[in-house]
Amino acid sequence: MSDYDLDAGPDPATFAAAEPESDIDEAGDEPVYAVGIGPGNLEYLTPRGERAIREADVIVGFTTVVEFVEELTDEDTDLLTCGYKDEAAALEEFGERVAAGESGTAVAMGDPNHSGYQFVGKVQDAVQREDPQIPVRIVPGISSLQVAASRARTPMEDTEFVTLHKSGDLEADMERLAAAVTDDERHLLALPRPYDRMPGDIAEFLLERGADPDLEALVLEKLTHDEERIHRFTLADLSEHAGGTGREDTPFSDLVVLAVRQSVS
Ligand SMILES: C[S@@+](CC[C@H](N)C(=O)[O-])C[C@H]1O[C@@H](n2cnc3c(N)ncnc32)[C@H](O)[C@@H]1O
Repeated sequence: MSDYDLDAGPDPATFAAAEPESDIDEAGDEPVYAVGIGPGNLEYLTPRGERAIREADVIVGFTTVVEFVEELTDEDTDLLTCGYKDEAAALEEFGERVAAGESGTAVAMGDPNHSGYQFVGKVQDAVQREDPQIPVRIVPGISSLQVAASRARTPMEDTEFVTLHKSGDLEADMERLAAAVTDDERHLLALPRPYDRMPGDIAEFLLERGADPDLEALVLEKLTHDEERIHRFTLADLSEHAGGTGREDTPFSDLVVLAVRQSVS
């Protein structure tokens, strides 16, 4: 179901992270909100995010994301849904409409601060190309990573988070992931890349780098959805699912988080 364009470039995440948000100026332009809707169950949407969705004239986002929040909107709200092929056109229309005075909210899965800045950067670019004075404010959401940490009992202060869910070369990210598990003995939470760096591939790589084959590895699938499943392995058992680059080469969907736990005495 992935609608994320992993081959797009140049990376708009750098643009989104270029500077902190400005102070809130009550007299200034109405901001555009980039709302994290949570992992796909409305019980995990914050009241602030819900208000930004209810109050918007126009909402933009991937179809698979907008579908989760559609029931919160009424017939006066315009939903600009897209996939990655028509993402640029949807964002352009969104930018034009908020510059013309409509209130706008962009929606993203989970929390935009977790592997979501590509989308935030594209929203900000589309809006500020039309009107540089309109600020874009992130409304954080509950990330799939936070739910995964809760299920796997891996507190964030003892855990390395690595996303492989991005385009291009992943060598530095793979090194960081290996060093965390082997040298630093930290828990790992990783977002795989469908379908060439799936959980089995990451397990195999960690073993090659000297990780303990008996470490617990959890593949946390469709978190908070009715179909949520937690697959429990040792690193050695999970590595048997390594290999391939296609959907058919892995038993897991693209909606998974991998947790590797250090033993805690
Ligand atoms: C581009 S990342 C965005 C992550 C998102 N910003 C977040 O905070 O959850 C998309 C990836 O997040 C993971 N993901 C998102 N929702 C999930 C869920 N409900 N259960 C498991 N993994 C999820 C999957 O690995 C998916 O491919």
